[in-house]
Amino acid sequence: MRQDSLYPDSSSTPEISRADRDRLTDLKTQIRHHDYLYYVKDQPEVSDGEYDRLFRELVELEQKHPELITPDSPTQRVGAPPLDELGKVRHEQPMLSLDSIVDPEEVLVFDQRMRRELETNRIEYTVEPKFDGLSVELVYDQGRFVRGSTRGDGSLGEDITINLRTIRSLPLQLHGENLPDHLAVRGEVYMRLGDFHALNRRMTERGLDAFANPRNAAAGSLRQLDSQITASRPLVVTCYEVMATGGPRPESHWDELEALIQWGLPVPVLRRRCDTIDQVLEFHRATEQQRDNLAYEIDGVVVKVNRGDWQARLGMKSRSPRWAIAFKFPPRKEITEVQDIAISVGRTGTLTPLALLKPVEVGGVTISRATLHNADEVARKDIRVGDTVRVERAGDVIPAIAERIPVPDETRSAPFQMPNACPVCSAAVAREGAYYYCTGQASCPAQLKGAIEHFASKAALNIEGLGKKTVAQLVDRGLVKDLSDLYRLDREHLLELEGFAERSSTLLLDAIAQSKTMPLDRFLMGLGIRQVGQHIAKVLAQEFGTLEAIMSADQDRLQQIREIGPEISASLCSYFQERSNRQVIDQLQKLGLSIQSRPPLSISTDLPFSGRSFVFTGGLIRMTRNEATSLVERLGGTVSSSVSRKTTYVVVGDEPGSKRDQAMKLGVQVLNEEEFERLMNRSGNT
Ligand code: IVH
Repeated sequence: MRQDSLYPDSSSTPEISRADRDRLTDLKTQIRHHDYLYYVKDQPEVSDGEYDRLFRELVELEQKHPELITPDSPTQRVGAPPLDELGKVRHEQPMLSLDSIVDPEEVLVFDQRMRRELETNRIEYTVEPKFDGLSVELVYDQGRFVRGSTRGDGSLGEDITINLRTIRSLPLQLHGENLPDHLAVRGEVYMRLGDFHALNRRMTERGLDAFANPRNAAAGSLRQLDSQITASRPLVVTCYEVMATGGPRPESHWDELEALIQWGLPVPVLRRRCDTIDQVLEFHRATEQQRDNLAYEIDGVVVKVNRGDWQARLGMKSRSPRWAIAFKFPPRKEITEVQDIAISVGRTGTLTPLALLKPVEVGGVTISRATLHNADEVARKDIRVGDTVRVERAGDVIPAIAERIPVPDETRSAPFQMPNACPVCSAAVAREGAYYYCTGQASCPAQLKGAIEHFASKAALNIEGLGKKTVAQLVDRGLVKDLSDLYRLDREHLLELEGFAERSSTLLLDAIAQSKTMPLDRFLMGLGIRQVGQHIAKVLAQEFGTLEAIMSADQDRLQQIREIGPEISASLCSYFQERSNRQVIDQLQKLGLSIQSRPPLSISTDLPFSGRSFVFTGGLIRMTRNEATSLVERLGGTVSSSVSRKTTYVVVGDEPGSKRDQAMKLGVQVLNEEEFERLMNRSGNT
C-alpha cells in the first residue's frame, strides 16, 4: 500500500514523445552508473555539478510524465511517508553470527579442524574485512530490490526497506548474466569515518547529541520510521554473502562475490583468496596495519572456507557456521607516560581522578587524558605520576589505562592520594565508599558550573545557548552565584561576555525567559538532586503533583512509592532540608518561574498498569526501548533499570543481560517480546 504512493498515478499527462522517453532511459542509466562509480568504486568520473544537472533533468522529465516513473528510478529513493512502526520480516535463511578469535594460534587450530573434517590438506580460504556496522538482508526479485531487513534475532528482523532504498550504493535494480529470479544477500551497512565526523558536527551544531561511534550512527539512521531522516545520513552498504537464490549458486564464496559484482552489488574491495593459512595470517597482519588509514571502521577479518560444497559439508552450529570465523584485531593500545594525576569536580561534587598523559595517538585519535574512575581504581591499578602505562581504546569507549608497565618500586613517585580539600574551592572533602565529595556545594565554582549546565540542559529547562563556555564566564565573573541569578541577567551583563553581541544576547535572554514555564518533572530533574534523574523526577511529579507536596514529604512517605528506596528518599530529604536550596527555589518562584503541576496520578489506579513496574533487558525487535517505555507509562506502569523484588515483569529481548537471571532468582515474572505485546494489547492498546 505504502509503496504505491511512491509511484504517482496520473491519468492526464501530455503525450510522451519518443525523444523524452529515450532521454529518460538514458538519464537513469547515466545516473545509476555515476552512483555506482561514486558510492561503490569510489572513483567518480563527473563533477558534483554535472551529476546534479543530470539528476535535475531527470526530475523535470518525470514531473512532466509521472506515468514513466519506475520504482527503480534514482529519484525514487526517498519519498515514502513515515511509518508508524517497523514491520517484522522472517529471514529465508537464518542470519547466523560468527565465532570469533583474536589469537593467531587459534586460527591455526581452526585450520587444523577444517583439514581434519574435510580430510584434506589443501583448503582454500577467502578473507575479507569484518565491517563494523549493522548486518542487513537484501532481497531482489527479478533483479528489483523488494525488501531489506535487519538481522534481529537471526530469524526475525525489522523491515527497513524504505530506509535501505535511500542508500545510494545499494542498487535498486540488478543487471547482468545469470542473474537469478530471486536473490537474497547479506551485507553490512556502515558509515565512513569522514562522513560520521561531519554528521556529528552537524548534530552538535543543532544542539543534538552526537553519536558515540559510526556503528551507532549507522544503526540509529537505519532504524528510523521516517526515511527522509535516513536519506540525510551518509550510509553505505557492502555485501558479503549470498543467502538464497532461485537457481544454482556460484561454486565458491569467491565466485559468489564476483557474481555479485557482475550484477551491480558492492562487495568488499579488500579481499583475498588464500591457499595456505600463512597467507590468511599475512592478510590479517597487513589489514591491521592498514586499519587506521581506511575510510571505515573494521574490527578484524573474516576467514571463510571458499568452496561451497565444503561449506555445506561442514554445516553449522546453532548460531554460527562451522566454515567461517571472525579473526578479530586486539584492541588498540599504545604506551605513554602519566605526566600528572588531576582531580575533576563534577556537578554533584564527586572528585574524579584523571590521568594526564603525554599525548599519544591510539587508532587515529590523540589521547591526552584517561579517567581513573575513583580512588579504589587508582589504588587497584597502582597508577602514580611518572608511570609508563598502556592506554586502550576499544571502538568507541573512553580511553582507559589498561595496565602499568612494571618497574622497581623505588624508582617510582609516591602512591597517589586523594586530596583532603577540594582543588577548586578548598572546601573539605568527604568520603563515601570509593567516592570522595567536595562539601562546598554551590559555593564551589566547579559544582556551581556543573549545576547550571545541568539545569540548562535539554532534558531539564532546555535553555538553548547556555553552554559550557558561557556558564564558565558567568560564574567566573561573579554574575551567577546560584540558579536564580540566571533570571536576573540582563543585556548589559551578557554583552560583557566574550563572544556575545546584541543578537546572541537577545537570543539567550529569550531562551531564559521561555524556560520560565516548566513542567514539574523537568524542573525537578534540573535541580540536580543526587539520584534524581529524568525517570525518578517523572515518578515524583506523577505521584505528588506539586513541588510543595514533594518538598514536604518525609522519607517514609517517599518510600511508599514503588521505585523509591532509602537512598533516593534520603537524598531528596537532605536536599530540601538544606536552607540554601529552599531559598533558591523560593527566589526562582519570586522571579517568575512557574512550575506546571501535574494532577496526581495516585487516583489513577484505573489505568491498567498502575502500580506495576517493568524492566527491559536485551534488544527489542518490534519497537525501540523508548517506544516500549512510553507504552508502559501511558498505561500507568513504570519502567526501571534494575530488577528488584518490587519489579512486576522483566521483558527479555535479543541477547538479554544478567537481568533475566536476576529475575529468575527473585521469582519475578519474565516475558518475551511477544508476551509483552500481548499483555499490552489485552490492555486495550494496539
Ligand atoms: S559473514 C554466515 N562477512 O560480523 C556468516 N560477516 O560476528 C555470516 N560482518 O553478524 C557473516 N563483516 O554482521 C561476514 N565480511 C563479513 C563481515 C561480517 C562484518 C558481521 C556480520 C555478523 C558479524 C559476526
